[in-house]
Amino acid sequence: MLCRMTDAPKPSPLASPEPWNLVADDYAIELLPMFELFSKDALKLAPTHAGAKVLDVACGPGTLTLLAAEAGCSVSSLDFSPQMVRNLKRRLNGAQQGADVREGDGQALPWGDGEFDAAFSMFGLMFFPDRAKGFSELHRVLKPGGAAVVSSWAPFEGIFVSIMSAVREVLPDIPFGSGKGPLGDPDEFASELRGAGFSEVSVQPITHILPGDTPAEFWAQTQRTTAPVVLLKNRLGEAEWRRVTQGVVERLEAQYGKDPVEVKTTAYLGFGRKS
Ligand SMILES: C[S@@+](CC[C@H](N)C(=O)[O-])C[C@H]1O[C@@H](n2cnc3c(N)ncnc32)[C@H](O)[C@@H]1O
Repeated sequence: MLCRMTDAPKPSPLASPEPWNLVADDYAIELLPMFELFSKDALKLAPTHAGAKVLDVACGPGTLTLLAAEAGCSVSSLDFSPQMVRNLKRRLNGAQQGADVREGDGQALPWGDGEFDAAFSMFGLMFFPDRAKGFSELHRVLKPGGAAVVSSWAPFEGIFVSIMSAVREVLPDIPFGSGKGPLGDPDEFASELRGAGFSEVSVQPITHILPGDTPAEFWAQTQRTTAPVVLLKNRLGEAEWRRVTQGVVERLEAQYGKDPVEVKTTAYLGFGRKS
């Protein structure tokens, strides 16, 4: 039917490398400490030994790659954003660590079957247009007995929710960040892992609370590091964005005042083993 064509969901803008290139440098500086906490949790969930072959899919600036390389694992890493890959290589050089780093699509991994002891995709596979392919590729490249950990965001809380509501209030015509995100339902997450052939599947929430910045600085950081917000900013142009910023900061300060606000983030960590 013709209407199928027009009714097909539009691919998310986050399914292309451009928005990730735009945020890559600030991400590597400002977000890495928070994301690193979840990579440490993932490495505890699928413990690796020195010399283990570890894969980091949608590695970004190498948040998990660096931790695994420093623990003596032999790490392979892939991301489709050239700027993220450049930042990972720079960080590896700085830490005097090595890894097999490649630019490419996580839905078509350039490695053979059964190569890895453990495979991770931290806050990356969740954005793939074909998640089933992402999960089955992780499964394919694992050795029998190997483990995978994939992470996603639980529904946002606190200042994240306030930012999204403030943007929606200032820009009522733009559908922005409402509802559950991809892999945001633990039961569906588990069933996607099982669907790819994983056993011993579990999905668990993990929360970290971080000392935050003032609401105004938190919004400024969000504009530098959060890909959908950067895309929106580029689309609206300078003048309109100034109006958005003023409206968002006014609303945040009315709710939280001007002092630093604690940031609570919860991720789902999905685990599966290849039988
Ligand atoms: C939120 S960042 C997470 C980076 C890193 N894993 C971490 O935990 O900090 C998402 C990453 O997924 C990458 N990505 C998204 N879709 C991808 C795809 N289809 N193939 C490869 N990388 C992808 C982006 O370029 C970006 O670096």
